[in-house]
Amino acid sequence: MNDIFLKVLRGEEAPYTPVWIMRQAGRYLREYRQVRESVDFLTLCKTPELAAKVTFQPVDILGVDAAILFSDILIPVEAMGMKLAFSEKHGPSLAEPIRTRALLERLSVPVPEDDLPFVLETVKILKSGLKVPLIGFSGAPFTLATYMIEGGGSKNFLSTKRIMYQNHGLFGGLMTKITDTVTAYLRAQIKAGADAVQLFDTWAGVLSPDDYRAYALPYVKQIIKELKDDGAPIIYFVNGCAGLLKEIKASGAGAIGIDWRIDMGDAVKKLGKKFVVQGNLDPCALLLPPEGLRPKVREILEKAGPARGHIFNLGHGILPEIPVENAKALVDIVHELSGKAAGRPE
Ligand code: CP3
Repeated sequence: MNDIFLKVLRGEEAPYTPVWIMRQAGRYLREYRQVRESVDFLTLCKTPELAAKVTFQPVDILGVDAAILFSDILIPVEAMGMKLAFSEKHGPSLAEPIRTRALLERLSVPVPEDDLPFVLETVKILKSGLKVPLIGFSGAPFTLATYMIEGGGSKNFLSTKRIMYQNHGLFGGLMTKITDTVTAYLRAQIKAGADAVQLFDTWAGVLSPDDYRAYALPYVKQIIKELKDDGAPIIYFVNGCAGLLKEIKASGAGAIGIDWRIDMGDAVKKLGKKFVVQGNLDPCALLLPPEGLRPKVREILEKAGPARGHIFNLGHGILPEIPVENAKALVDIVHELSGKAAGRPE
């Protein structure tokens, strides 16, 4: 088993910098599109053999150092009792967004083994075939709350912030139910075999530091504290983290995902040397040919040098428009520049 990724997460010495790519199973891969021709996205998420198949694809095709469970952050939200649909054009939508007490009361905290067995089954299939570590994941409470309150994606998050500011009881009640859901869900993934877990806080970057501290961070802290003894390192990714790093430091996570809008060197300075960092190439930089990509990768590797450890990744998910050769080139360049090809001496 290639456990370089876990070594780095634990703060141990590693022979080279591990790399994986957020959303590495996806439409930029011909093999993924082929699977999607015969099943819709939700069916794919809920069919363990197929979900496992597309999880393996980028590991085999790109040679990344970790796999991430194929699913979606909204799968446990559906299990809480909301009706979920995905459209090709508009992305996810959730019926009857949670804007009243009555709707909140209808939501349950799912029991993963009973309500999400297909996810745990996928983890088990993966663990029996993977030669790299498996990352489990969940959306973080604030990000899940935005989808549940808005009913889908949003530009200004007006409904979310209206409830957040005007109805503390409803907002707190929703965040607590989500927090309990996420905790149980991640615990079950770890028990089924996930080697590490990542919390995706895709929309927390739309909060001011004060509001992040008041309305998002406490719930993340609680989840991480609860999972401390479950044995899997936790990566906490906030998209748009630049203005929040002081707060994110207090999350309890040992590894912090960094998006590309902040210089990696500045992020490491702000976090200090106790944290493993993950990131942070602009996903669009994968439009560059290898000779343009190489100096950008080198810069990030150098700037992450002083951190406790570095896992190379994009600053957010890979885009469907990226040529697969460029993603392959990225993985090779990271490995080569950080010492893999040269077989760096001990
Ligand atoms: O990283 C991986 O390879 C694992 C799979 C994964 C998916 N979604 C697959 C997916 C993960 C970890 C996610 C997380 C997710 N889902 C997030 C947080 C991470 C992030 O990107 O910020 C969010 C916000 C979602 C919600 C979501 N799912 C949206 C907004 C969309 C539509 C946008 C889009 O890319 O189409 C999805 C759909 C989705 N999730 C796809 C995939 C591969 C595309 C579905 C398809 O095949 O058509």
